[in-house]
Amino acid sequence: MALDPNPDWWREAVVYQIYPRSFADSNGDGIGDLDGVSSRVPYLKALGIDAVWFSPFYPSALADGGYDVDDYRDIDPRIGTLEQFDQMVEALHAAGIRVMIDIVPNHSGSGHPWFKQALASPAGSAARDRYIFRDGLGQGQDQPPSDWRGIFGGSAWEPVGDGQFYLHLFDPAQPDWNWDNPEVREDFLKTLRFWSDRGVDGFRVDVADALAKDLSADPLPTAAELEALPPGAEHPLRDRGEVHAIYRQWREVFNTYDPPRTAVGEVWVEDRTRRARYATSAELGQAFNFDLLLAGFNADDFRTIIDSNLDLARQTGSSTTWVLSNHDVIRHASRYGLPPVASPGERRELGRLWLLARGAEPLEDTALGLARARAASLTILALPGSVYLYQGEELGLPEVADLPDAVRQDPAFRRSGGYEVGRDGARVPLPWTEDGPSFGFGTGAAHLPQPAWFAGFAVAAQQADPESTLNLYRTALAARRSLLANEDVQAGGFTWVEEQQPGVLHFARGPWHCLTNFSAPEAVSLPPGELIVTGASLLPGDLLPPAATAWLHVL
Ligand code: NOJ
Ligand code: CA
Repeated sequence: MALDPNPDWWREAVVYQIYPRSFADSNGDGIGDLDGVSSRVPYLKALGIDAVWFSPFYPSALADGGYDVDDYRDIDPRIGTLEQFDQMVEALHAAGIRVMIDIVPNHSGSGHPWFKQALASPAGSAARDRYIFRDGLGQGQDQPPSDWRGIFGGSAWEPVGDGQFYLHLFDPAQPDWNWDNPEVREDFLKTLRFWSDRGVDGFRVDVADALAKDLSADPLPTAAELEALPPGAEHPLRDRGEVHAIYRQWREVFNTYDPPRTAVGEVWVEDRTRRARYATSAELGQAFNFDLLLAGFNADDFRTIIDSNLDLARQTGSSTTWVLSNHDVIRHASRYGLPPVASPGERRELGRLWLLARGAEPLEDTALGLARARAASLTILALPGSVYLYQGEELGLPEVADLPDAVRQDPAFRRSGGYEVGRDGARVPLPWTEDGPSFGFGTGAAHLPQPAWFAGFAVAAQQADPESTLNLYRTALAARRSLLANEDVQAGGFTWVEEQQPGVLHFARGPWHCLTNFSAPEAVSLPPGELIVTGASLLPGDLLPPAATAWLHVL
């Protein structure tokens, strides 16, 4: 299958996120690699996705799962070579699958040659100007320049032994770049061209809102002062106006290619209208909409989120993105099985406590979680916009809650003294077969241990089962593809169909109807039409049970 020649291919694409170290291991060293991905191209093709997005595969000390990049224009030797990358891109393209890669512009890894050079150079040098160095406070200059905390815990400033500190919003092994420095800007343009020239179709931009910073205040504001900033006030570290000039320059580079390279920004900015500024056609084109990650399995929340994001996409001429899982959050098959909570904050806390309970507590209702996950996935796959899937969700894979402390790799675990259990439970290597040393992931043990129950979720176990989550995704993606090609669907727009019962959402795109019964106490009757996909068994009388979605073709 050839690549879709339409330059707007990304607008309704289904993009599958590959976390390279945990996808498939071709040489038995326990680490997933590019040849592993190449060997699974038939699987990806059969799944029916439009593109893959690769989390970082660059040379890295793995202080943050590869988001600490030591060389932006090479491949970590444990993951492969540039030649293997080219072969993999060729194989994916030949299968009609586009390739997006992660670009990490807020910080490098501490092994980056420019950071090493900065450390070896004196205060005030050109080498230090590429990062954010400041003098320490106090007589001995041994106090950090401010009391800011890093996102993984601990101070956001690290002393380098000569009275200076450098800023790291994340781990100390992730020093923040100084985007006021022209060499830094130029080097990233070079990186974008490097990968675009190799055939990469698009970029996922890590921490996209934090590149521009203003640290000119003296003294710097305290963490409490930042916390107290009113909504809309300029923040020295996040979502500053100047950041947009960077992406306008990137867009110029993207548009020198045919088709133009695409981009999606990771923008954790609460105000949706501010988030939308990153998504215009003059900048990245898309920004992640993470609203559903913070919402419960609840019809009202879904409806509000759907409405506001579709509105925003209409206003900016972008297309919205839908996400239920990624490598940073508890897998949605588990998240939806946790008891209901009142607020996103409470949900995060519950998730944390549940993970700490090591899965031993019967807090999680696994059957309910999976039913809801299947229902919610079908809902977002029917919405206008593109959908980002995370590897393993097509298997209905739950979070691995009970990893032993000793194997945890996430810096959030270490730096919070175990308060945050971290994100490793969503990053355990995929099960491909029901047995073997790592369930077919490779021929040796995997870099994070897989629990025995992974066997039941293995690809091989699901292939032959028509009711499996894998086959549900395959059927849904194939149906979505043909529905999107249907002229009546294209002309149909998006409309809500009002239902009598609370807890039910029903929308239509022309003849394509999607009905989700989130929580109606009674099962819901379906409109007359041809049932295309449903993840659940209908009740007698063709009623849709709670925690289920159905797609219909209604004439
Ligand atoms: C967001 C990435 O998704 C996450 O995994 C990483 O830890 C941070 N950015 C820092 O790069
Ligand atoms: Ca390997």
